[in-house]
Amino acid sequence: MSQTIVFASGKGGTGKTTVTVNIAIALCKKNNKVLLIDCDCGMRGLDIMLGLEQNLMYDTGDVIAGNCVTSDAVYAHPSVNGLFLMPAPLNVEDEISPQVMEQFVNTVRDSYDYILIDSPAGLGSGFKTAAAAADRAIIVINAEPTGVRGALNIRKELIDKGITDIRLIINKLNEKNFRELALYNDLDEVIDKCETQLIGVVPDDYTVVTFSQKGNPHLNNSSANKVFSNIAERISGGQAQLAFPKKI
Ligand SMILES: Nc1ncnc2c1ncn2[C@@H]1O[C@H](COP(=O)(O)OP(=O)(O)OP(=O)(O)O)[C@@H](O)[C@H]1O
Ligand SMILES: [Mg+2]
Repeated sequence: MSQTIVFASGKGGTGKTTVTVNIAIALCKKNNKVLLIDCDCGMRGLDIMLGLEQNLMYDTGDVIAGNCVTSDAVYAHPSVNGLFLMPAPLNVEDEISPQVMEQFVNTVRDSYDYILIDSPAGLGSGFKTAAAAADRAIIVINAEPTGVRGALNIRKELIDKGITDIRLIINKLNEKNFRELALYNDLDEVIDKCETQLIGVVPDDYTVVTFSQKGNPHLNNSSANKVFSNIAERISGGQAQLAFPKKI
């Protein structure tokens, strides 16, 4: 039975798209078949991060408009076995409704082990569409007060929509900066304030930036790589370590 997971954040730029791509790749490395749906209409980025930008002919908007069949708008990644992308429309006017997203996901659900949906920041229509078909949610924050407030707002919306399986990723954590800024006593305080169970802490890692801008989805030598692998394991119900930094 496939699972659909929406990646969300109240605040922009926390790393949702980056985290979604990397977890999708980690799930594929564990022999899962994964569909990534880009729901950031008008600002899509998954295609760039996956190096598929030049390949795209159709997107979800074309499927809905009847310009193509669904399979025409689903792109298999050439070097990540089992990874597929459905791009968002480039034009905001082509944004699909939550109802249409739900219908669409229901038609493709049986073909994948996981469907990961990357949403735009905030609580707007794009988030509502992204969340419409989700069984589970992962909130991506940075360890700062605006991130925490965003997480609480998103969490409330998700629960109102009936999504109760919600986990937290703290992304771009720089341990030295976290200690020096002293906004929180420790990471436990951040997690408690978000009222959401942690599934992973991803370090601030320059190779993640390099990868995302070059469209080369292979992070083999990155310190973040093991973390993404552990998060994928935990998503699948395994008991991998949280990789919680010991010093914080
Ligand atoms: N763990 C990380 N370490 C270092 N940089 C990162 C990490 N995760 C993401 N980034 C960088 O942070 C920036 C924002 O990432 P990304 O586009 O994934 O965020 P987003 O939450 O999807 O943004 P938006 O809200 O605009 O959709 C990018 O430059 C990305 O490379
Ligand atoms: Mg994004």
